[in-house]
Amino acid sequence: ENAALLKAIIENAIDGIITIDERGNIESINPSACKLFQYDPQEVIGKNVSILMPQPYRQEHDHYINRYQTTGKAHIIGIGREVTGLRKDGTQFPFRLGVSDVNFSGRKIYTGFIHDLSREKEAEDKLKEYA
Ligand code: HEM
Repeated sequence: ENAALLKAIIENAIDGIITIDERGNIESINPSACKLFQYDPQEVIGKNVSILMPQPYRQEHDHYINRYQTTGKAHIIGIGREVTGLRKDGTQFPFRLGVSDVNFSGRKIYTGFIHDLSREKEAEDKLKEYA
């Protein structure tokens, strides 16, 4: 069945996948994203996605979403961005964020795809030490 297949794909994806509603509240999070941010699903579902990012983004993120909803002008959707995530233990990590805008049963949700860049960044920093 289609829904079961989709669920299996999302559950086993290497990248983190998070969906939020139009207010920024987390509706779903896959195991990869839980591992990256060190949370169990029940700790973050219903919370604002901004808990997963450091300041100043944490404070501004609702405005970013509102601005997109009022102007229709995307800054990350369909483009992507390298951003910083905040883990439960307070440490930060870089990742590539892709966001898409999804019309799902008559309402809008956003899906975020999270590709960890920690290893690449570490290698880059090591190279810079020798440069
Ligand atoms: C917009 C940061 C995670 C959904 C933005 C913008 C920033 C940002 C800086 C505005 C860009 C600009 O105006 O130039 C972050 C950071 C994240 C994060 C640091 C780290 C956790 C997410 C996730 C989702 C998401 C996981 C979706 C599930 C959105 C949406 C917008 C937005 C819908 C507005 C549309 C747009 O600007 O294209 N975010 N974000 N964000 N973000 Fe995030």
